[in-house]
Amino acid sequence: MLKVENLKVRYGHREAVHSVSLTVADGEIVTLVGSNGAGKTTTLKAISGLLRASGGTITFNGERIDHLAPHQIIERGLVHVPEGRKLFADMTVLEHLELGALRGRSGSTGFNERLRWVYELFPILAERRTQKAGTMSGGQQQLVAIARGLMANPKCLMLDEPTLGLAPIIVDQLADTIKQLHGSGITILLVEQRVDLALRLADRAYVLETGRVVMEDAAHTLAADPRVKSAYLGL
Ligand SMILES: Nc1ncnc2c1ncn2[C@@H]1O[C@H](COP(=O)(O)OP(=O)(O)OP(=O)(O)O)[C@@H](O)[C@H]1O
Ligand SMILES: [Mg+2]
Repeated sequence: MLKVENLKVRYGHREAVHSVSLTVADGEIVTLVGSNGAGKTTTLKAISGLLRASGGTITFNGERIDHLAPHQIIERGLVHVPEGRKLFADMTVLEHLELGALRGRSGSTGFNERLRWVYELFPILAERRTQKAGTMSGGQQQLVAIARGLMANPKCLMLDEPTLGLAPIIVDQLADTIKQLHGSGITILLVEQRVDLALRLADRAYVLETGRVVMEDAAHTLAADPRVKSAYLGL
């Protein structure tokens, strides 16, 4: 479904991502893990068109997308839920969901149907539909960010650090949410610093260090790897 080959991304003269290659097959959960500054967010931003690649190719369902604008990439069903949620504090839940639907992939379902689906997935958002995002808890804000992405009717959802700053019990709920989304047929590329959680959720994983993929394998294989255990799992 998604194929990234030899991706390079620069900030000015400094290259932050060097020749990253990864694939995500239809129906998979793939995770991209690595420590601070490894280049995870930069990679996702390049895939979603927010940053231009300075080298390499990005293909989505057989089509090159590395020269498309972000809204064109969303229209094709590849949707990015950004790190830090990026909500508008003064806008309500419903207004965020309307925004998410603006540039979505046209599919078999209309706005109202999708809204019903999102409210079924996240009943708390139905209750809070008129509440301003800035007044919600971190966990609720993350649900708003994911729900906004879902309103675009994604085939593939890229989640950047969805559990950042959340209490452990909320993290567990969010993990269930990700499984549920996957169960509803959405392919997922998950960026996570909680490597244990990411490897439990994912089918396959890539480990990124200073802008390069240093390991890739089935998630359970990586979880048992002594190097991963000592560097990322604190074991
Ligand atoms: N806007 C920017 N301008 C210049 N350099 C940047 C910018 N954003 C990130 N970088 C640099 O690019 C590298 C990769 O950063 P990136 O944000 O992709 O890492 P990350 O793996 O997402 O880290 P984190 O876990 O902290 O979110 C880092 O060295 C970072 O300092
Ligand atoms: Mg990041």
